[in-house]
Amino acid sequence: MTNARTRLAQRVLLKDQHIVTRMMELASGLPDVIKLGRGDPDLDTPAHIIRAGQEALAAGATHYTNPMGLPELRQAISDNIASHGGARYAPENIVVTPGGQQAMFIIALGLLDPGDELLIPCPGYNPYLQAAELTEAKLVEIRMSMETNFTLTAEMVRAHITPRSKVLVLINPGNPTGTVIPPEEVERICEVAKEHDLIVVSDEIYARIVYGDHRAQPVAALPGMQERTITLSGVSKAYAMTGWRVGYFAGPSDLMPALAEIHHAFAISTSAVGQWAALAALTGPQECVEEIRQTFDERRRVLCAGLDALGIPYAEPEGAFYVYARVAETGVPATEFCERLLTEGQVMIFPGKIYGDYTDDFARMSLTQSVPRIEEALRRMASVVESIRQEQSVT
Ligand SMILES: Cc1ncc(COP(=O)(O)O)c(C=O)c1O
Repeated sequence: MTNARTRLAQRVLLKDQHIVTRMMELASGLPDVIKLGRGDPDLDTPAHIIRAGQEALAAGATHYTNPMGLPELRQAISDNIASHGGARYAPENIVVTPGGQQAMFIIALGLLDPGDELLIPCPGYNPYLQAAELTEAKLVEIRMSMETNFTLTAEMVRAHITPRSKVLVLINPGNPTGTVIPPEEVERICEVAKEHDLIVVSDEIYARIVYGDHRAQPVAALPGMQERTITLSGVSKAYAMTGWRVGYFAGPSDLMPALAEIHHAFAISTSAVGQWAALAALTGPQECVEEIRQTFDERRRVLCAGLDALGIPYAEPEGAFYVYARVAETGVPATEFCERLLTEGQVMIFPGKIYGDYTDDFARMSLTQSVPRIEEALRRMASVVESIRQEQSVT
């Protein structure tokens, strides 16, 4: 019994993914849980986007669309990528998917043969690992650490290259770490990719959510990269549209027909109403993106100040909406800390292990609740940390 599905199921159930399910179950039996777990903010989709969705439904957007996505939306995606310093993609080289999440699996199935090596920074976004697992590719984890603020470097990539290296995944800004690879380093990493003929999957879904002077360099815009890069993104994060399920990927002409066909087989097309709403998001007023970014920036400061006061170190969050904190500093492993914080403090955060972390030291805290709720979460965390530290001083 060794088909791919069984192996995927084993990986999901027997490795660390089951922790999320277990925490969700625990949370469902508890009152007033402050959820800083999933990457799904409390923010509502901006009103003009909701209206566009409603109008589209009233106008009959209840059918399948062009399998690759509405032509208008693919044009808007092309313009949006280019206007933010990215490459210029022809609409024929863009596929709209039910969330960027599904795109990861399409890309993996289209690019990886058994034994091919997929290089991925670790900790990283776990569905990439599951997608590679499904294809029986070999996962090559590039271990990052807090000493370098979890930033990937060209040297680290180079040290993991073998003759079977095929795909490099870059998630920038990072999830779960919230760190941004400096643009010059992205350039150096791309030089390595060209030297070793790698395909780069560049996950830029958090690119609009960066803080201070940080900037996430679009990979395909760099010289010689568009022909070997698949850019993956979506509207979920920048426009508070997680539930609409619209993402996309864009890539070179030689790869896209096969990938588009796999997408078609999976989904036929992405939901019509979601696509019309995404079109309104990308072509309508953009102030909402800045408002969303500022909201996360404020929450980030509050959470970081609270962690400082508790003596819990964290990677400097430079983008996305997560704080990756070394909760093991409190004296217990991160998985235990998260479980205790949930059962004793009714605050849900996720241990780094579910993002492939090779230590049990870190937890990801999402900035998905309001400032008052984050402040309340910090008060509850303080009391759990206090109990743990007292126990430690007794033993
Ligand atoms: C790094 C990264 N990429 C892609 C996605 C997929 O988002 P969606 O499927 O909502 O487009 C997520 C979701 O959390 C993510 O964190």
